Amino acid sequence: MAAQRVVRFGIIGAGLMGREFAVAAARWATLTGLECRPEIVAVCDLNSELLSWYGRNFDSVKQQTTDYRALLENREVEAVYCAVPHNLHRDIYSDIIRAGKHLMAEKPFGIDREANGDILSVLEKNPGVFVRCSSEFPFFPGGLRMQKLIRENPWGRILEVNCGFLHSSDMDYNKPINWKRMARYNGAYGCMGDLGMHALHIPIRSGWLPRRLYASLTNVVERRPDGRGGFTACDTWDNATLLCETRHPREGYDFPLTVKTQRIAPGQTDTWYIEILGTKYSARYSTKYPKTFEYMSYENGGAQEWRREDMGFASLYQTITGGIFEFGFTDAIMQMWAAFMDELCHPEKEMPYGCIRPEETKLQHDILSAALKSAAKGLVVTP
Ligand SMILES: NC(=O)c1ccc[n+]([C@@H]2O[C@H](COP(=O)([O-])OP(=O)(O)OC[C@H]3O[C@@H](n4cnc5c(N)ncnc54)[C@H](O)[C@@H]3O)[C@@H](O)[C@H]2O)c1
Repeated sequence: MAAQRVVRFGIIGAGLMGREFAVAAARWATLTGLECRPEIVAVCDLNSELLSWYGRNFDSVKQQTTDYRALLENREVEAVYCAVPHNLHRDIYSDIIRAGKHLMAEKPFGIDREANGDILSVLEKNPGVFVRCSSEFPFFPGGLRMQKLIRENPWGRILEVNCGFLHSSDMDYNKPINWKRMARYNGAYGCMGDLGMHALHIPIRSGWLPRRLYASLTNVVERRPDGRGGFTACDTWDNATLLCETRHPREGYDFPLTVKTQRIAPGQTDTWYIEILGTKYSARYSTKYPKTFEYMSYENGGAQEWRREDMGFASLYQTITGGIFEFGFTDAIMQMWAAFMDELCHPEKEMPYGCIRPEETKLQHDILSAALKSAAKGLVVTP
């Protein structure tokens, strides 16, 4: 194989997700057959303890800074991964794009629809910059299988689609607050802004866009410990259930789509799921049982038998890991980054299973804004 092209990255926002990317880059040798690889040369965060973690673990990091503009001035930096709180997306993403750096951004890609529109208009003026938005769950073997099935369309008539992303750590009323539970940093979407892009990735990519939508939003825990012995307002939506009516883009009939994004879902640690029920073929997958893919093929008068298949390590990009092994969260991150790098280095390549595209983040904002409107008025709305 020819020498790999090295893409030099800066990370802005070096917290939970910044570190996941750094470690994925360090584990790049697990991927076989890719012609490019990331190298992290610069890191920016306001927290100096985090910066020193990168300094200790990555010899390639030559710049540590608390000023993201200094990172953007670094001519070594070709691309940026930006994982900062939602209230900073508009300014920092726009500045990254204006600086001509390629960008892997985080969801929801703007704290609200207006911020999203502003970022997209900066991108429109800088068409040479490659931008994608992170969403790793469709890279699980079951997410990939589901996307392949959707392209093959074996369902007969789709009866309904149910998808979502469920968390449960907020069941603990004693859990101290963080920025994700404060509307001024996290945004009016609350749990939908954090979890919605994950749940909507496959429906949006499939062209299953809600024509009508009703949203039920709840704020279950209204105060949380502030971590300093007191309490503070927890003013974000904890749980959201969207009931949508969706038109099949090729076949023209309507079917129901439910989208759940919940932080208080009993017993669900980090459960991403999708279920498609059809008259001829049905399938479901949940990261709760990450190896297991369930499906049912049906012919009139035949037995109605759900089957369960252990998928093993069935990834989009080939790795050194044996097919008999298990796949996990860090593997999904790795595969998502492989897709980003592949598309960045081969812009002409068709990428049906690639990362979220900028125009898809707009569709997500259309849906989530409609959900807010629906909940505020108690009405069915059209996104
Ligand atoms: N893809 C996923 O699975 C996933 C999971 C969690 C979060 N996220 C997204 O990632 C983003 C960050 O979330 P996180 O969980 O990593 O949060 P985090 O709080 O762990 O990290 C955010 C970091 O940004 C830093 N920061 C704040 N202001 C800054 C500034 N002006 N300049 C530089 N750094 C600054 C903070 O110090 C913090 O370290 C959000 O958009 C979130 O929605 C994605």
